[in-house]
Amino acid sequence: MKAITVVPGEPEQVRVGEVPDPVEDEGALLVEGRLLGICGTDVDIVEHGYGSLPPGQDHLVVGHESLGVVLEAPEGSGFSAGDNVAGIVRRPDPVPCPPCAHGEWDFCRNGKYTERGIKELDGYGSQLWRIEPAYAIRVSRGVGDRGVLLEPASVLAKAWEQTDHIFARSSWRPRTALVTGAGPIGLLAALLGVQRGLDVHVLDINDKGPKSALVSDLGATFHAGDLAYTGLSPDVVIECTGHGPLVFDLVNAACPNAVICLTGMASGSKPSPFGADEVNDTMVLDNTVLFGSVNAARSHYEQAAAALADADSDWLDRLITRRVPMDAFPDALHKTEDDIKVVVDLRT
Ligand code: BGC
Repeated sequence: MKAITVVPGEPEQVRVGEVPDPVEDEGALLVEGRLLGICGTDVDIVEHGYGSLPPGQDHLVVGHESLGVVLEAPEGSGFSAGDNVAGIVRRPDPVPCPPCAHGEWDFCRNGKYTERGIKELDGYGSQLWRIEPAYAIRVSRGVGDRGVLLEPASVLAKAWEQTDHIFARSSWRPRTALVTGAGPIGLLAALLGVQRGLDVHVLDINDKGPKSALVSDLGATFHAGDLAYTGLSPDVVIECTGHGPLVFDLVNAACPNAVICLTGMASGSKPSPFGADEVNDTMVLDNTVLFGSVNAARSHYEQAAAALADADSDWLDRLITRRVPMDAFPDALHKTEDDIKVVVDLRT
């Protein structure tokens, strides 16, 4: 079968070529890969050396945002041939630590978790893949190709769930949400915020491409440029740019009792001086909670599947701005200003 293989940190080693078909040990469900979503983590793997090879292999099958169709499913697995499925990314550590032992691999404590297409496990960037039924999520037929958005949406479902848990600390409830970054993660964060009934604002560095129309068609408000010029004092922030210095501006701009959730990761680190004492004092005096959120457990994929099913399908379709064949994977790593989500069609 054809697969997209990479070596972390060695862009010249990206290959689209033949690899052996998956063996039954890799999971009872045999799946035909349909679409593969590309995100900043894939760029970080290829260009900045994030992630790691499976032990004993000299390459990694890349890809963690999956959509495929079940070809073979054993009786009693809960799946049948023809089902659309997406694969969960993370697997619990082998110890396992207490959260992993409870299916909360997204809260793994010892860092020995593995992630398909990222850390020590081959991913979903191949014409065929296998998966254990416990790590497959059925995508309803009506969601169609938009099911490739399930994995990124699961990351936001977790981020919002954690945010909700933190707000439960007092009787006060948030009304105004700010999402920073209008890429696929930011737009899905905005979708989930609107579905929660919040007044959602989305800030991006510029208004090029389809993002401002996507934000307003969601019923949210788009802002381009500097945070200071928005005049916003949000109750809740979902930060989706990974731009470290912005975090401190957000702490200062957010209202008392705000919750700020960080979901983005900076590619490579740049030294950035900031007013540590000012941030300290603001957070204490305002009861601010600043927290990070990564990955997703099974329940978050289920919440994400419900959110995608409830969303306007034309709006979701507009998030997928480009489809490329497998051989064009390297192009998919580089977005144009008209791109939101680029996907690889694993059938071409
Ligand atoms: C993925 C997560 C993963 C994280 C860190 C993200 O791009 O969506 O599932 O845990 O990268 O590796």
